[in-house]
Amino acid sequence: MCGIVGYIGKRDAYPIILNGLKRLEYRGYDSAGIALYDGSEIQLCKTKGKVADLEAKVSKEMPTKGNLGIGHTRWATHGIPNDVNSHPHFSNSGNLVIIHNGIIENYTSIKKELINRGYIFYSDTDTEVLVNLIEDVKKNENVKLGKAVQIALNQVVGAYAIAVYDKNKPDEIVVAKLGSPLAIGIGDDEFFIASDASPFIEFTNNAIYLEDEEMAIIRLGREINIRKIKDDSLVAPYIQELQLNLEQIEKGGYDHFMLKEIYEQPSVIQDTFRGRLLADKGIIRLGGLEDYIEKFVNADRIIIVACGTSWHAGLVAEYIFEDWARIPVEVEYASEFRYRNPVITEKDVVIAISQSGETADTLAAVKLAKEKGAFVYGICNVVGSTISRATHSGTYTHAGPEIGVASTKAFTTQITVLTMIALKLAKVKGTISQSDYMLHLRELDLIPSKVSTALDKNDSIIEIAKIFKDATNFLYLGRGYNFPVALEGALKLKEISYIHAEGYPAAEMKHGPIALIDEQMPIVVIAVNSNHYDKVVSNIQEIKSRKGKIIAVVTEGDTIVRELADYIMEVPYTPETLSPLVTTIPLQLLSYHIALMLKRNVDQPRNLAKAVTVE
Ligand code: AGP
Ligand code: GLU
Repeated sequence: MCGIVGYIGKRDAYPIILNGLKRLEYRGYDSAGIALYDGSEIQLCKTKGKVADLEAKVSKEMPTKGNLGIGHTRWATHGIPNDVNSHPHFSNSGNLVIIHNGIIENYTSIKKELINRGYIFYSDTDTEVLVNLIEDVKKNENVKLGKAVQIALNQVVGAYAIAVYDKNKPDEIVVAKLGSPLAIGIGDDEFFIASDASPFIEFTNNAIYLEDEEMAIIRLGREINIRKIKDDSLVAPYIQELQLNLEQIEKGGYDHFMLKEIYEQPSVIQDTFRGRLLADKGIIRLGGLEDYIEKFVNADRIIIVACGTSWHAGLVAEYIFEDWARIPVEVEYASEFRYRNPVITEKDVVIAISQSGETADTLAAVKLAKEKGAFVYGICNVVGSTISRATHSGTYTHAGPEIGVASTKAFTTQITVLTMIALKLAKVKGTISQSDYMLHLRELDLIPSKVSTALDKNDSIIEIAKIFKDATNFLYLGRGYNFPVALEGALKLKEISYIHAEGYPAAEMKHGPIALIDEQMPIVVIAVNSNHYDKVVSNIQEIKSRKGKIIAVVTEGDTIVRELADYIMEVPYTPETLSPLVTTIPLQLLSYHIALMLKRNVDQPRNLAKAVTVE
């Protein structure tokens, strides 16, 4: 995981790298570091902690002059988060300096070999092994840095996005990618390097995204030289014009990115179906799907692979696909799927869901499914991300950058896309009646305003958060379409407030979790209008008899659950099939407010990172 930034050009590199690291901090925040070339030496500063800690340390300890530099914000994989393990890492001679996102899996054997040759290691990282391997190759083979990087990487197993430079050749940075993302911003005789385009968006709209197993030699005054790491063949640079703007990656007056992103949902859901959903005309247009509609229509089954919140969106999709399109669906944790030798055939369609489009397990599942001949469809948010490029086709969610580590708008926009796909397939297959189809199109069109109404209830949710903020456990219960929402509500609470929470299908409660219920236990029950409403009411009665505290998500105007519950969170009516899009809103707000009251770091909860690019 972690974020990498680099700059080479005419400007002061330090502020560009520092701001870039702040924007990439969502990717990892165990430690941060920077290595600037000041015209004769490399000035290095690194520290455990956040980019703000690095900034404070630099202001005391390091001159910030220089037009070439690299910086890193770390999510530790090898070696605890401390100053020494922080990146950048020097080679033994002090000539080479590197930043790395990823894991060198065979670092132990390479390290042994290098120790035998007299190399000394100061950190526990795999990265320090790589920079010394590059140095060793450079010396022994008497080659330039680019060649040495190439030879070294051919000996390495694992994943990387790296940037490395040599203080004796300060007009050049060498970068390479396998598995982890790497973007190069192209300015006017200046270049930016970053894990995503956010660090350089105010300087240039032109970017090259390296593909796996590619490296680039970035030299001032020259065209970028991109080569395949394996066979040294030249690759023609493909420069993309970016759509991102600065406003999208800033907080816009909100205290946290998470809150901003929760409140963006009405507009981003609208963006998700802009130009795609023409409700009055009964049309759904999804280019990526239409080109391959036969694959879906003739599929034996759909397998959805994803992790975390995206997996929960997949679970919602299982209900809607089976209900409307009558195609059997299996939803798999990508991490389990990829290691299970799954039975996949050419008649399967695999849908990979990923906000970041970089999740290592989901990417590996995509590759495996492709190898086995399945048709693979991606639902990603980040345009140009690795998964979006690795799939045969797909649909972007268009939610805009999601910076808060806890996923919110990604979830609702994923469900929006999945709903459109399911409706489209049902229509083509003739498994939905025309009236039902039209009803759902119109109802989907109304979702943004219903999400707004749900958000308007924020004040009452703050009151509930005050009452329950000190609880040590929570249960979340839902049935049918709202069972995945219960899982998602529990995940949101645990990841940002660190309160233990479990999501369960409401009916499963009596098979075990009911033993946990006493007067201390808050139980969030999603009890909106549905086919299972009466059953959920019975589940609430069961909880009440055990004195559990019930916080119920109910449909506006509900009277029965309102009587039974201790507290209610209201959402507008929408058909059950679309209800996850609104019932999830109060749960997001509840976890946000509880986390805030507990003074947690809402946007960067401990131990987590936004894009999990390691297994
Ligand atoms: C969500 O709040 C989590 N931070 C996490 O579970 C996330 O959904 C998961 O890592 C998958 O990420 P992706 O959608 O970028 O693949
Ligand atoms: N493996 C490297 C380390 O632990 C890089 C980690 C990362 O990509 O987050 O320092």
